[in-house]
Amino acid sequence: MFDSSLLAPIHAFLQAETPNEWVHEAQRPENLRVVLTDHLICELKAAQSAMFLIRRYAVDEDSAQALLQWLKPYEDFIYRQKGDWQSLSQTNRLKKTMLPRSDSPYSQELIDKMVLLIKEELHHFSQVLQIMQEYGIAYENVNSSRYAKGLLRHVRTYEPQALVDKLICGAYIEARSCERFAVLAPHVDEHLGQFYVSLLRSEARHFEDYLKLARQIANEDISERIAFFGQAEARLITDPDDDFKFHSGLPVSAVHA
Ligand SMILES: [Fe+2]
Ligand SMILES: [Fe+2]
Repeated sequence: MFDSSLLAPIHAFLQAETPNEWVHEAQRPENLRVVLTDHLICELKAAQSAMFLIRRYAVDEDSAQALLQWLKPYEDFIYRQKGDWQSLSQTNRLKKTMLPRSDSPYSQELIDKMVLLIKEELHHFSQVLQIMQEYGIAYENVNSSRYAKGLLRHVRTYEPQALVDKLICGAYIEARSCERFAVLAPHVDEHLGQFYVSLLRSEARHFEDYLKLARQIANEDISERIAFFGQAEARLITDPDDDFKFHSGLPVSAVHA
């Protein structure tokens, strides 16, 4: 179905595999709505967090404003129920070139990589919205799972370590998303499965982008920090979780079965 060499680095990076019980839960037709809706919101969050990182740390004021405007129609849709999927698919454009802040220690490379990543995430967002349309699922907001919060609570509060930790969390979230697309693809209908495989191809690089940036910015060995977040991430995936979502843990129904 897909080139397994794409997944090898992801499996090597993650410290736990998705439990089969999660896959069973995700396959249930009544859960398609929550899987797709949460996935849609995750695509926006991936764009938002990349954007937050470059606005906060890297780009000049004009660029920061242009970034905010770029994301606004998507945020209006998700948080204020304004707009529709057709109009959103026309808006994925950033006209301005992003420029680094004069005092920024972060490179143009960070900015360029993040802008590319945001573009890809917004494209995925539109694709998921289109798939939802095809399956007759209207968008309704769902609460976020414990997952991202559970990782980000370990982020240190001083710089540059805070940025390094956020980048490591970003790497884990990206890698886990890929792993989930791969485990889901053979268990859903063919059309959706092909979509997951296409996302997997596009996302497989993102976690390495985040890690590379984390290493550059830390300027020291961060392998212990990566291992620490890897353990925290694995617990979020394998510990019982009563809230079924795209990144949730072991479904409690499986624990009680
Ligand atoms: Fe994505
Ligand atoms: Fe991604």
